[in-house]
Amino acid sequence: MHRDQVIAIIDSGVGGLTVAKEVLRQLPHEKILYVGDNARCPYGSKTPEEIRACSFQMIDYVARTPLKALVIACNTATAVVLEEAQAYLPHPVIGVIEPGARAAVRESKTGRIGVIGTETTIRTQAYERALLRIQPELYVRGLACPGFVPLVENHLAQTEEAYRIVKETLQPLLAEELDTLILGCTHYPLLAPLIQEVMGNKVRLINSAEETARELAEQIFPARAKTGDQSGERMPEPVFVTSGDAEMFRLIAEEWLDRPVTVEHHSLAG
Ligand code: SIN
Repeated sequence: MHRDQVIAIIDSGVGGLTVAKEVLRQLPHEKILYVGDNARCPYGSKTPEEIRACSFQMIDYVARTPLKALVIACNTATAVVLEEAQAYLPHPVIGVIEPGARAAVRESKTGRIGVIGTETTIRTQAYERALLRIQPELYVRGLACPGFVPLVENHLAQTEEAYRIVKETLQPLLAEELDTLILGCTHYPLLAPLIQEVMGNKVRLINSAEETARELAEQIFPARAKTGDQSGERMPEPVFVTSGDAEMFRLIAEEWLDRPVTVEHHSLAG
């Protein structure tokens, strides 16, 4: 594979940074192009047609660059366009739902698994299907949390308001005796400390980022992923593009990735 090809990571906003962080950790010598459609975030309350149109604008934007693989680091977009994107591009295209479901089944001891996500992700039942395909006798309880993404996008994840919204929203899950909860939206790991506090320490939170990055590594470097050999190459700077406020994006990205980043603005439309 050519060394100038990039791994593109697309998301409705900053949530996919949770996946980007793992990709940068597991594949530190790869060129990364991250695109966040912050101007049109959240996707979770859009119609499937709108989500499809926005997602394909991002896909067409990144496809102008020679690609090695595409990661759809947005659960909502994965639920709506993954298969179509896989048929559209000649490169590996990886979503976040199957990896998250696999990680949850591996972690759960009681088989009582919760899934939180956007309205669209929960409505499509994409996680239920993925989980039950792996293990048909699981108990799966989904809950839409439409208030969570705006907290993250507006850099409010560490506020009293965020705690109040997380606590109120998760109430219906507290009596469900879950032992595992899938963070079925890539924005939610940025709220993980609050979610953990509300759910209690007995509930294991699943963030699909690690498993998604592992699947990416296996698909593009089957031999190297096994040996972890990434030696002898330089470390390129990742490129970040947003359709929204570049300064807000930079603030959140630097905090989450713990490194300085430069962010470019692009409208993505057309
Ligand atoms: C959203 O844009 O509404 C959330 C992204 C996701 O589902 O991961």
